Amino acid sequence: MQARIAAILTEAKEQGIGYVSGGSIARHLGISRAAVWKYIEGIRSGGGIIDAVPGKGYQLVNSEDLLLPGAINLETDVIGREYVYLPEIDSTNSEAKRRIRSGCSDGLVLAAENQTAGRGRMGRPWYSVAGKNLSFSVVLFPGGISLSQAPLLTPLSAVAVCRAVKKVSGLSIELKWPNDLLIAGGKAGGILLEAGGEMDRLRYAIIGIGINVNLSREDMPDSIADTAASLMLAAGKPVPRRRLLEEILIALDSYYARFCTGEAQSILAEYVDLCSTLGREIEFLWYGQRRSGRAVSIAPDGALIVITEAGERLTLRAGDVHCL
Ligand code: BTN
Repeated sequence: MQARIAAILTEAKEQGIGYVSGGSIARHLGISRAAVWKYIEGIRSGGGIIDAVPGKGYQLVNSEDLLLPGAINLETDVIGREYVYLPEIDSTNSEAKRRIRSGCSDGLVLAAENQTAGRGRMGRPWYSVAGKNLSFSVVLFPGGISLSQAPLLTPLSAVAVCRAVKKVSGLSIELKWPNDLLIAGGKAGGILLEAGGEMDRLRYAIIGIGINVNLSREDMPDSIADTAASLMLAAGKPVPRRRLLEEILIALDSYYARFCTGEAQSILAEYVDLCSTLGREIEFLWYGQRRSGRAVSIAPDGALIVITEAGERLTLRAGDVHCL
């Protein structure tokens, strides 16, 4: 039965029909919708990538653009020396934490086709669609780096993503402090950095990166439809996810090498050039109070410096800013 469902979805894909509803598959095969779901899960656990959208149905994702390890071509020093492909996982950052606890290597990359409980900053959920986003985490054990330097891994990663996106798609990404990847004002991706250590010694860092690569407007749920962007929508054509992942990992590897050899400030200067928050009037929460001011610069530790209307100079180290 699994093979028959796979055949129906393959035919629909070849004919450009797109999504096939669970109801029509069920009727065609004389089985229940619950059974269709069960067989779909079976196809997925065998490595097949099927996108499921409530109210629309199922669609087979292009197998040529899967992130399978054999297809990923990396010549990097640290990042991606170990590469783990996950057809489906709750969150690659959560999986990274589990693997750190049980022991894993420096530079490990966990790349998922689908996340069922992706996490964003500040406890927010992160939405993704199987086979259409990039959702991956990089584990680092940066010996000799202090905990206070860890936040610099966010601008480092943002710059690496910008360079790779430009190279693969020609698109220019702007950065909204601290971690948003924007295209034409819409959010096309984000970075979730999670780090741990003791005293001032950084023990591990997890760089989680999510990018809306080939999402169509229909793929975006109402909760993000007004604010989200995708590379495909901006480029007017699909962007090869696998090639993009390779280029991001290669860029990350080279920026990380520079970071480890004391070049953090020159990387931060690149971030400043790409950061569209600077020079803007912004609103933000300051000890629970809504405040506003002009974002004027980035401090050497990656914090945002804001001058309020009253001329007060504030240093924002965390949180969200809203551009006015
Ligand atoms: C944000 O903008 O709030 C950060 C979003 C980060 C999402 C990525 S997807 C891969 C990794 N795994 C997660 O659960 N989150 C990050």
